Amino acid sequence: MQVGEFATPKAIFEDYAYFSSQSASWLEHCRQYSEDIIAKFDPKTVLEIASNDGGLLKCFQKAGVTVLGVEPATNVAEASEKIGIPVINEFFDTKVASLLPKQDLIVGNNVLAHVPNLNDFIAGMHLALAPEGIITMEFPYLQNLLKELQFDTIYHEHFSYFSLASVQTAFSRHGLKIFDVDVLPTHGGSLRIYAAHQGTQECTDRLLTLKLQEDTNNLDAFKKFADESQRYKRVFLRRLTDFKDREYLKHRGGASFNPKSVSIVAYGAPAKGNTLLNYCGVSTEFIDYCVDTTPYKQGRFLPGSHIPVYHPDMLKETKPDLVYIQPWNWSDEILQKLEFVRRWGGEFLIRTRYR
Ligand code: TMP
Repeated sequence: MQVGEFATPKAIFEDYAYFSSQSASWLEHCRQYSEDIIAKFDPKTVLEIASNDGGLLKCFQKAGVTVLGVEPATNVAEASEKIGIPVINEFFDTKVASLLPKQDLIVGNNVLAHVPNLNDFIAGMHLALAPEGIITMEFPYLQNLLKELQFDTIYHEHFSYFSLASVQTAFSRHGLKIFDVDVLPTHGGSLRIYAAHQGTQECTDRLLTLKLQEDTNNLDAFKKFADESQRYKRVFLRRLTDFKDREYLKHRGGASFNPKSVSIVAYGAPAKGNTLLNYCGVSTEFIDYCVDTTPYKQGRFLPGSHIPVYHPDMLKETKPDLVYIQPWNWSDEILQKLEFVRRWGGEFLIRTRYR
């Protein structure tokens, strides 16, 4: 699935705000993956495309595997070099691939959606892959996007949203065969596909079963998705309004009541949070401020809504009444971290499907 609006990769990645190591559960996901894949395929060399700040490659390096990252965002690549991960600071394409030694394992997590020239990107992987090598790629699954109403994950950094069928077609054009798949809970439901050169691996039963279950080539599902997304906006606005009004009425008439003190703040500043806030037209009249652990995001403003972003310590200082958790994909980890908010009677709002 593709949408016509996007920003140029150069504009996005020149100065990139996303550092994947901010999430402990993502680092644990990487550690587990590296252990499993080493046990299964025993790679001697691994290339990670879009290696970000190096969290995943560090796991391979510790296990004695020769690692190399390709990462277009200079500031993020520098963070990875600081922890001793070699990085080529470029967009991955056939030109870069032709200069690399052949790799036993090529990994790309949450990169496929960001690629404008998908054919050249996949052809590059074909070029850089050793004859018996394996590729694994993780990406949010279109089936879940539709089912769970994840319209907020559709934004200008993403060029494509993949089903299993569409990614198989794209890979097969370049001599690569997808032979296995894992269904993962990450980022609201992802697929991890396993690919290799044509003729080297047999398809697994679970791949064939998942393919048969797929229902993403159905126009009615998309129409329903659009209607339900509009309903989501109404319900979300109602929740915020009800909360603000309920608290307002509770305190109204109190001697020193200040309407501003009925506070809602946002926790986390993920890209998808901005899609949601801007679509719903929510700004500082509802949300006083946002906090995020990424130093790079602190002291800035959320695009469009212009909500200021601070260090999470701000929560303890201002004791908000409601904390709206924006990165719903990390909500378990975040709720644990924010247990202290309950001490002053603070409540949480997490984005759900709102049926
Ligand atoms: P993501 O959903 O695209 O991974 O973005 C998550 C954002 O939330 C990112 O800016 C880091 C931030 N974050 C926190 O501030 N605290 C946390 O505990 C976690 C897990 C993420």
